[in-house]
Amino acid sequence: MKKYTNNVNRIAFCSPAVKSLFLSVVTGVMAFAFWFVRQSLSKIDDMLGDIGEVINKVINYGFNITVVLALTLFIVGIILIFNTPTAYRIKLAVRKRMFSPEYDNPLHFKEGCLLPRVTCSEKFRQFSLRIWATSTNVADLESISNVISSSINKGRMKKYAVTRMKTDEAMNYVTYYIEDVKENRKLIFKSSEEMKQRNLTKLVIQKGSVIDISTVGSCLFSGRTRSGKSYGVTSFLIQLLLYGRDKYGSEIILIDPKTEAFQGVPRTILPDEDGSMDKVIDIMKDFDDLRRRRQIIINNKSNETGDEVKWYDMEMHPCYLVFDEFISLRTTNITQRATKEDPEHCLAVFDSLLKTIVTMGASAGCFVIISIAQASVGEGGLPSLISEAMGTKIIFKPSKEEAKFLWKNENMDTLVMRDFEQGDAWFSSKDGEHDFPSFVRFPKMDFKVKEELSRLMEAYYTE
Ligand SMILES: Nc1ncnc2c1ncn2[C@@H]1O[C@H](COP(=O)(O)OP(=O)(O)OP(=O)(O)O)[C@@H](O)[C@H]1O
Ligand SMILES: [Mg+2]
Repeated sequence: MKKYTNNVNRIAFCSPAVKSLFLSVVTGVMAFAFWFVRQSLSKIDDMLGDIGEVINKVINYGFNITVVLALTLFIVGIILIFNTPTAYRIKLAVRKRMFSPEYDNPLHFKEGCLLPRVTCSEKFRQFSLRIWATSTNVADLESISNVISSSINKGRMKKYAVTRMKTDEAMNYVTYYIEDVKENRKLIFKSSEEMKQRNLTKLVIQKGSVIDISTVGSCLFSGRTRSGKSYGVTSFLIQLLLYGRDKYGSEIILIDPKTEAFQGVPRTILPDEDGSMDKVIDIMKDFDDLRRRRQIIINNKSNETGDEVKWYDMEMHPCYLVFDEFISLRTTNITQRATKEDPEHCLAVFDSLLKTIVTMGASAGCFVIISIAQASVGEGGLPSLISEAMGTKIIFKPSKEEAKFLWKNENMDTLVMRDFEQGDAWFSSKDGEHDFPSFVRFPKMDFKVKEELSRLMEAYYTE
């Protein structure tokens, strides 16, 4: 069936197993009819002579063929019941929900509309369902993710739902990623070494969810107190520190205005006795200088080779400036207004440096991590330009209200409220794979986390 119609034959949306069993019943009935006619005609057979013989032969053939067909179709039907791949079942269920008129027609097709192509494939127990924007548009397709989740509600597919979407850049189709939402993908690491990734542009969050920092490395960690922000940041830091320092003088700098999350970790920047953290501005200037130097090295290499060279092509390791409790740092620990004696240490300089690093740092592999307790942006909070420039955004133990501050324009239909535990979060990353927010669980680190972070920090700067 290629076109939408209100007069559809219901069998059109059934699975091949049901179709096969249905046809086996039909051919079985035909076989019975042939048998019945043969029994009835046997008495008058002799009276009809040659014609009777021909009729008898036809009926016999008919009976034999329909019996074989009925049995074959029955066996095929039974085999299909147990062997239809889940990807195919998902595709059928979705097609039925979208295209069968008895299901409310969520894409609002009119009679005679061409039906879009639907495909579904499986990779590592994740299903990618793709619907083409034929006679509909990607905006409509983006709005039906929850309808798709509820359409796959039979048997073993019951626990599957759309967890994220991706729209084709050329607006040709939308891909829905469907996963077992009851499955716990949380990673448990017994030692820091287990956290080492093979590729230094990847940071792992949970089984199957890895963010790509090759272009978008700056991360915003938000969430209420004790929700898992600092712990989540630490899981990233351990992965980053495990690569060691690069030959271009890479840096990982921790700023802890609350003297809490990274207190005791070597080289952590803590407030002065009077609570001031104006020295952070000097550190940011140095970090920005490092960014410039690295960018010049990359540019020179690009000119030399005549081709675009990326920081990770040159064996550069990512550099990070990590702000825990960013809002309190920005509003209480930094001098708010410049003085004549010291015009360089004030909020305006802090904001401007941060803007430069966040917007220009990616090409040199220089990023920031910002941790904030409230997702609200604007006056007294996170400058909206910074929020928008953060490639990766995470809210721990989230609520829809908080999420609206971070994802103003993104579709959040794939997000469902649940009993969030510490380390559970919604996250998005502009890496092309996770553009729409989705649910993740940050890893549990089953070892002495602070001790290990301290050891790795020490090793990073001494080895
Ligand atoms: N992914 C996780 N897995 C298991 N436990 C976690 C996880 N994340 C956090 N926790 C637990 O929750 C505690 C609080 O986490 P964390 O200190 O990161 O919260 P926070 O959001 O930074 O809070 P605060 O606002 O007080 O700084 C941790 O000490 C740890 O025991
Ligand atoms: Mg914290």
